[in-house]
Amino acid sequence: MNSKLRLGINIDHVATIRNARGGLHPDPLKAALIAQSAGADNITAHLREDRRHISDIDIKNLVKKLKIPLNLEMAPTNEMLKIAINSKVKRVCLVPEKRKEITTEGGLDVLKNKKKISTIIGKLQNHNIRVSVFIDPCIKQISACVELKVFSIELHTGEFCDNKKNKKKEFFQIQKSAKFAKKNNIECHAGHGLKYNDVKEIAKINEISELNIGHFIIGESIFMGLKKTILKMKNIINNSRKKKFLLRSA
Ligand code: PXP
Repeated sequence: MNSKLRLGINIDHVATIRNARGGLHPDPLKAALIAQSAGADNITAHLREDRRHISDIDIKNLVKKLKIPLNLEMAPTNEMLKIAINSKVKRVCLVPEKRKEITTEGGLDVLKNKKKISTIIGKLQNHNIRVSVFIDPCIKQISACVELKVFSIELHTGEFCDNKKNKKKEFFQIQKSAKFAKKNNIECHAGHGLKYNDVKEIAKINEISELNIGHFIIGESIFMGLKKTILKMKNIINNSRKKKFLLRSA
């Protein structure tokens, strides 16, 4: 039987556009509420150490206004731990973080950083926060997550999406990993770099219960909404001219 595949929408890149001008528009909260009304199952946001997209206030607003869960992506650091606990999020996804990377470059190395990650997970779980860990599709990493008793893992799909030559191999690795997680009673999520064509394949893996997608959806929505937005602007301009109001230049 097919199980439901939930969709989480990552709104980081709405904040990236907002931050390019340092103002308030476009508001990631508004994007999150649209995603919610479109049937998204959760909203994902990555609070980075350098706050390059989502900010602390965004997290507070999202927690306050959303009816669907907020999945807070964060590095396993004490600063982020405090924020997660104080902001009363219910879900956290631990991700690696390098300052100079453009986006998350790979999964968290749980094997290498087990002690530190285990301490952070324990503290989050003490506050009833459901913990997921973003890892590469690798059985050894999943085994380490089983030992740490995480609620779920999120498999990094970046290699699968970007690697044109070994797509089949990457797919089977993700499939094998998802089956292994499910067998060990861990929920299996997946995300990173997913586009329409990638999703067609990944959605066939029955053991995956959630996909988290950001960049492509935010990018694609520009094309879906650009014409409508220009027409609205032209309409406002023409109506205003007709009423003989002067347009002030920005
Ligand atoms: N899942 C995780 C853990 C991520 O770090 C990201 C990127 O922030 C995503 C999903 C979404 O990836 P993309 O923006 O490429 O769809």
